[in-house]
Amino acid sequence: MTTYTWNETYAVDVEILDEQHKVIFDSLGKICFAMANGSVGHIVPSLLDAFDIYCKVHFFDEERVMETAGFPHLELHRKQHELFIHHLELFKASRSFDTKSAQDEFVSIAEWFIRHVLTYDREYADFL
Ligand SMILES: [Fe+2]
Ligand SMILES: [Fe+2]
Repeated sequence: MTTYTWNETYAVDVEILDEQHKVIFDSLGKICFAMANGSVGHIVPSLLDAFDIYCKVHFFDEERVMETAGFPHLELHRKQHELFIHHLELFKASRSFDTKSAQDEFVSIAEWFIRHVLTYDREYADFL
């Protein structure tokens, strides 16, 4: 089973944002698990809907922190968030979550998020 465990490597040292990252990592693992286990009915779509909303809240909060701090690469960072949401929403709209290729696709979404924390999020963390 694929799990994504937050550790100090991912810390941005803003408590609310680290807490949100932990929730997101946890959700990524839960969605992978539900997909890999062929969860029936609306479980995967519901998890994806909740995940989508939570990511939007997180991105909003994160952008507000960067804005308040006068972080110079906010617009580039915002574009990355928009790309992620776009990709996630395309995936949600595909409506086929029980195939191996859908599982692989979601793993790539998860890995994108983790790379984003390690590169883009760390960049603002270093600036704060
Ligand atoms: Fe983040
Ligand atoms: Fe971010």
